[in-house]
Amino acid sequence: MRAVWITKAGGPEVLAVRESPDPQPGPGEVRIAVHAAGLNFAEVMARQGLYPDAPRPPCVVGYEVAGVVDALGAEVTGLEAGQRVLALVRFGGHADAVCAPAERVLPMPDDLSFTDGAALPVNYVTAYHMLFRVANLRPGARVLVHMAAGGVGIAALQLCRTVPDVVTFGTASAGKHAILREEGCTHPIDYRTEDYPARVRELTGGEGVDLVLDPLGGRDWKRGLGLLRPVGQLIAYGFANLSTGERRSIRRLIGQFTGVPLLTPYTMMGRNQTVSGVNLGHLWGRADLLREELTSLLDLWRSGAVRPRIDGVYSFEQAAAAHRRLGERRNIGKVVLVPR
Ligand SMILES: NC(=O)c1ccc[n+]([C@@H]2O[C@H](COP(=O)([O-])OP(=O)(O)OC[C@H]3O[C@@H](n4cnc5c(N)ncnc54)[C@H](OP(=O)(O)O)[C@@H]3O)[C@@H](O)[C@H]2O)c1
Repeated sequence: MRAVWITKAGGPEVLAVRESPDPQPGPGEVRIAVHAAGLNFAEVMARQGLYPDAPRPPCVVGYEVAGVVDALGAEVTGLEAGQRVLALVRFGGHADAVCAPAERVLPMPDDLSFTDGAALPVNYVTAYHMLFRVANLRPGARVLVHMAAGGVGIAALQLCRTVPDVVTFGTASAGKHAILREEGCTHPIDYRTEDYPARVRELTGGEGVDLVLDPLGGRDWKRGLGLLRPVGQLIAYGFANLSTGERRSIRRLIGQFTGVPLLTPYTMMGRNQTVSGVNLGHLWGRADLLREELTSLLDLWRSGAVRPRIDGVYSFEQAAAAHRRLGERRNIGKVVLVPR
């Protein structure tokens, strides 16, 4: 098989396409001939040496694929060779062949393309899980979405639109605001030139919001808590602030970690606030839950309520350019890798 390898921690130049023997599916697994694989911010952080969950380099990362089943392990039922599928995989997705437990593999609707199929699992399950399982999003709620023009951000905006009268505030670079509005963002905010907490307060008459989806971490978690109105909730689901430029910066790591707010149940009780954490990569043991959420998302896709926005499609040989696109903050929506 051909795969995109992270040969060591570093800039995009450490990526290399290499050949190795095809993986063989074990009991309960299927092998997928990958037609498209999603590139996620976590994988950019893995390349930078900033993602503790990733395997040690040299390694192949990639959390999601769309393709065709081409081999079945023992005891697999409900899937067959030749079937078009999408899957959540725990690494190894940036390859033209990957094995996955059948419980995390779902048949794809006939009219869903491989590119769009590869853009659904991570971004949409993360957003869906946060909004509907962890937060119980209600009509009329005010939601602050950070990294709003990224893959998860756009998924969250589209899903917010499925609940009546939800008001969304999305932080993103100014050049992306027109598209954010198209995707349903009520109030795009340019966090680079504006003090976003002040802007959110102004837009809400000083009241703040009900829900903050925060993948930035560090000082932004503190700012987000300050924006919650009573009964508000902050969901921490990433630490993008650790990543700046192409390489790891120790000074930045220390600065961001010392900015993390220290909370106790007592503080949260007094404030009527909730802080929740979400990490899809640590939900692997809950295949039932991931499958249920992915199934609901495919129903939403069939109804037209969600549509992945593809920023660009890159061959494995162009993986460094794909990583740069995310690291340099140029993407709007999903970056997808294809084997050729
Ligand atoms: N916990 C989970 O299970 C889970 C699952 C998926 C993703 N995540 C997290 O969610 C976040 C978004 O992931 P994604 O894959 O949707 O992102 P993405 O598509 O790669 O979004 C990248 C965009 O985020 C913005 N951004 C803000 N701060 C940034 C920074 N420090 N470095 C680079 N870009 C920055 C940039 O847009 P602007 O120019 O508009 O700022 C950039 O274009 C990441 O932190 C990721 O780790 C967590």
